[in-house]
Amino acid sequence: MSGQLSGRIALITGANRGIGLAIAKEYAREGAECILAGRNLKALEELAASFRAAGGKASVVELDQENDDSVRAATAKIRANFPRLDVFIANAASLGARQPIISYPLDVWRQTFQINVHANLLLLQGLDALLRKSDSGRVVFLSAQVATMAKVGTGSYAVSKAALESVARIYMIEGQDTPIRVNTVSPMATRTEMRARAIPDEDPMTLKTPDEIAPLFVELGLASCTKQGEWINADKWLAARKAGQK
Ligand SMILES: NC(=O)c1ccc[n+]([C@@H]2O[C@H](COP(=O)([O-])OP(=O)(O)OC[C@H]3O[C@@H](n4cnc5c(N)ncnc54)[C@H](OP(=O)(O)O)[C@@H]3O)[C@@H](O)[C@H]2O)c1
Repeated sequence: MSGQLSGRIALITGANRGIGLAIAKEYAREGAECILAGRNLKALEELAASFRAAGGKASVVELDQENDDSVRAATAKIRANFPRLDVFIANAASLGARQPIISYPLDVWRQTFQINVHANLLLLQGLDALLRKSDSGRVVFLSAQVATMAKVGTGSYAVSKAALESVARIYMIEGQDTPIRVNTVSPMATRTEMRARAIPDEDPMTLKTPDEIAPLFVELGLASCTKQGEWINADKWLAARKAGQK
């Protein structure tokens, strides 16, 4: 299949819905070989089948980021089945609870860290060797604006995203001598289930869709992408793209 990502092998976590689904579809359209990871195997298998029916290459890896064994099994399966990894989109995440920090339930706090931080650390540890086998490995972490600004009730979500951004920065500088490029995207308000849970009073139709920002992730997955260590505000990227299209 021809496209900007033709010949590139890409792993997308949480590819069954929301922003991950939009990225997976855009990657498939651009010719990437997609490894679709997540818990909802039925949805992922149907998605992979639709990509294959359109002439693409796609497969599914079971991944429950709450469970270390599942994460290790997923990376072992990817290592066993693919010669290299060109793109890793660390998308899947948990919102946690919306509670004041002073009464934040510790079990939810730990669960959010497990999914948003520890699992991504294990994924990096399990996939770094494969990313190094690519001549142009690209890693994109999805973070959130609350990682860098205080917002009431965002508790473990905000703090775990801040920790994830720190993981991204350290991974980036420790791999400076490799061709791997590491960037972080803050999608900003986007019409998904997570956003609806976070801000239930908001009219979702006022928000941009995941499809609108999916091309940003194509740019960051290209072999020609030279960005390194950037924190990209998807709204600013989208505004610049729209201005450029006028
Ligand atoms: N939407 C926004 O406005 C917004 C704003 C800022 C940042 N973000 C970030 O953008 C990314 C995508 O968010 P979204 O809005 O698309 O959220 P979403 O619609 O809630 O989707 C979250 C995805 O993460 C997966 N996931 C959750 N827990 C998991 C686990 N234990 N193991 C494996 N997968 C798991 C979900 O799979 P299941 O279906 O199995 O639960 C789903 O595929 C996240 O990193 C989020 O923090 C979003």
